[in-house]
Amino acid sequence: MATKANDTPFLTDIRTLRKRARKHIENGAVTEGYLADRNTVIRLLNEALATEIVCVLRYRRHYFMASGINAQSVAQEFLQHANEEQMHADQIAQRIVQLGGEPNFSPEGLLTRSHAEYVEGNSLVEMIREDLIAERIAIDSYREMIAYLGNDDPTSRRMLETILAMEEEHADDLVSLLEEMGK
Ligand SMILES: [Fe+2]
Ligand SMILES: [Fe+2]
Repeated sequence: MATKANDTPFLTDIRTLRKRARKHIENGAVTEGYLADRNTVIRLLNEALATEIVCVLRYRRHYFMASGINAQSVAQEFLQHANEEQMHADQIAQRIVQLGGEPNFSPEGLLTRSHAEYVEGNSLVEMIREDLIAERIAIDSYREMIAYLGNDDPTSRRMLETILAMEEEHADDLVSLLEEMGK
């Protein structure tokens, strides 16, 4: 079946696409069709990166402290979350580079850039509660970023949606832990 050009009025024709792609090849993955404000997206992603790093540090501290007081199942949950937050940090850093930015791993100002806090907690229950608060902060800020991106940067949005789903799972795991402990 023959297809006419006007069968797909919402698509840019192939020649224009190819011409555009050749024009600014140094921009890598960022083409002229990229609709978002790149600097803002990079700044937001760096805040998300800081949030994830702070979460890695807090969960690792909690993992070692819980291991010390013989709370093995809770400790394992903390460790798993720590590793998953590290995975998120890596994905976000990679996306920042794809967008032509630089991932900020500097310890200087890390807590100011992060949305979530670093709270050590004095007991197992306090640790879990603090982690739950941090997850809830992350959930809200990811949701806002996703809404901000809309259709302007579908790749970043999809990544953030996947991360958001995992933060929701984390929050759910922590609620279950608190319930098991009767808190
Ligand atoms: Fe995360
Ligand atoms: Fe999380």
